[in-house]
Amino acid sequence: MNSPIVEIDFTDWCEARSQPDWTAAVEAGKVLHFPRLGFDLQPAETALLREDMLKPGTRNVSLGADGVLKGAAGSAAEQEALGAMVGRFRRQALQLIDGLLPEYRGQLRVAPTSFRPKQVETRAQSVRADDQRMHVDAFPSRPSYGERLLRVFTNLNPHGVPRVWRVGEDFETIARRFLPQAKPYRLWQARMLNAVHATKSLRSEYDHLMLQLHDLMKFDEDYQKNGTQLTMPFAPGSVWVCFSDQATHAVMSGQYMMEQTLYLPPGREVNPQSSPLAILTRLVGRPLVGVGAGVAR
Ligand code: SIN
Ligand code: FE
Repeated sequence: MNSPIVEIDFTDWCEARSQPDWTAAVEAGKVLHFPRLGFDLQPAETALLREDMLKPGTRNVSLGADGVLKGAAGSAAEQEALGAMVGRFRRQALQLIDGLLPEYRGQLRVAPTSFRPKQVETRAQSVRADDQRMHVDAFPSRPSYGERLLRVFTNLNPHGVPRVWRVGEDFETIARRFLPQAKPYRLWQARMLNAVHATKSLRSEYDHLMLQLHDLMKFDEDYQKNGTQLTMPFAPGSVWVCFSDQATHAVMSGQYMMEQTLYLPPGREVNPQSSPLAILTRLVGRPLVGVGAGVAR
């Protein structure tokens, strides 16, 4: 396997440098790693790095575009400080992407920003929800119709603990391996899920196949253990960026991370042919979203 990680030597979030090979790499599903770009955690903010800043029963703290913080516990003053910290990361993440991937300027939609204070290795989860298993990101309730998930991550751990990921083979290799086992798409099932509001809109065949890949990967013990993969410790004070609907990944350990998702509409990649939608459409041989997709199924 060629390395799935590309190192970039930025030291400043405002560094406006782009390179066609970086864009091509992230669009090929590689992880861009910035080992020298850290989030400037202020001394008072280390006091916010506690699991009990999370409201019981929630996975993440999230800051909406409207500035409202959800999922946080702690005092009012602590929540205000946490909102300021997460907001600062959001601005820096947006700045980074603007300088690094100017081709996407004006096209990205900003999702809520998340702070994840839970220790990864002690989280108990069902197989399907277990991100310690290799997967590509796909969400059961939110059909994407090929909209991309560009994610910026930073490790904030104050004790020197890395966030350890595994990164696997390219999307097409994975799709070729698992598609033959995928259950066929049924339009009536998609309609039923939508009617009972299990999905926010009609699940497309593309979304069905992405979920199938997500699940088939996670449930395949042999692939999880023996699939080609690289273990990558992301040190505190580093940043990494990938299309997480394309880069095969798992998080093995670590604590205290912030994450910003940016949605890129389908077809707005510099090379749309490299996208999961284009790859799956080629492999299946018919349109998977839009008019004509899923008819008579
Ligand atoms: C994931 O998207 O699988 C989670 C990544 C992380 O928590 O580091
Ligand atoms: Fe994931």
